[in-house]
Amino acid sequence: MAPTNDVLVQQQKESRHQEAGHKSLLQSDDLYQYILETSVYPREPEIMKELRERTAEHPWNIMTTPADEGQFLTMLLKLINAKNTMEIGVFTGYSLLATALAIPHDGKIIAMDINRENYNIGLPMIEKAGVAHKIVFHEGPALPVLDQMLEDKEKLGSLDFVFVDADKDNYLNYHEKIIELVKVGGVIGYDNTLWNGSVAVSDDAPMRKYVRYYREFVLRLNKALSADPRIEICQLPVGDGITLCRRLF
Ligand SMILES: C[S@@+](CC[C@H](N)C(=O)[O-])C[C@H]1O[C@@H](n2cnc3c(N)ncnc32)[C@H](O)[C@@H]1O
Repeated sequence: MAPTNDVLVQQQKESRHQEAGHKSLLQSDDLYQYILETSVYPREPEIMKELRERTAEHPWNIMTTPADEGQFLTMLLKLINAKNTMEIGVFTGYSLLATALAIPHDGKIIAMDINRENYNIGLPMIEKAGVAHKIVFHEGPALPVLDQMLEDKEKLGSLDFVFVDADKDNYLNYHEKIIELVKVGGVIGYDNTLWNGSVAVSDDAPMRKYVRYYREFVLRLNKALSADPRIEICQLPVGDGITLCRRLF
């Protein structure tokens, strides 16, 4: 017998996907697993699989870009013919490797992270893939690097794509700087803009401490991006939510 509507609603309520703080935004784990097993894992380059499996052993593995989002970034970068790119927030380098593999041989990635140790975990795989020459890694906070770039007129409007996946409390500060560095028609991708689904629950809903802390910043960012006339935007429920911003002028 098919379940009644009431039973289905109850089942949905019981699903852990209804919890604020759960990372997958799909309706069920099975659906997400279906996407991974059907379209993502069979197409994932062997070297990215190696890095994903190595990263899974890391105690902070929750920070890595999921494989379906890596595949999305790869497709996007190729569609826009990205060559000069930037990434803020590298961790062990899954999205960085996806980017390095997607851009041409003479493409460049300015990559930034306050933690070089984690980057060093992924570096042997980036080298093995033959794409390390495309990456200029800056260890340290991203804002001073952006400020330095803004002083160089040649760097203004020079980037085809920027992926921002670091400290959420600085996203709006990053935006004001990156908008000058990305070319007109170029794309900025802000990661985690659905912030574990917490953006759509009430203020007093139970959620983990770090989810609650950054939630305010993500809510503010989403409002600001939506109201920013300099960009057109598209917010996608891929991974933890990614908002693509295309610079208009
Ligand atoms: C979510 S992880 C990045 C995940 C990465 N894109 C991947 O594919 O695995 C966030 C990273 O941002 C870095 N980070 C935090 N604050 C930063 C800052 N102010 N400047 C640059 N990187 C920062 C952290 O060290 C961490 O590695």
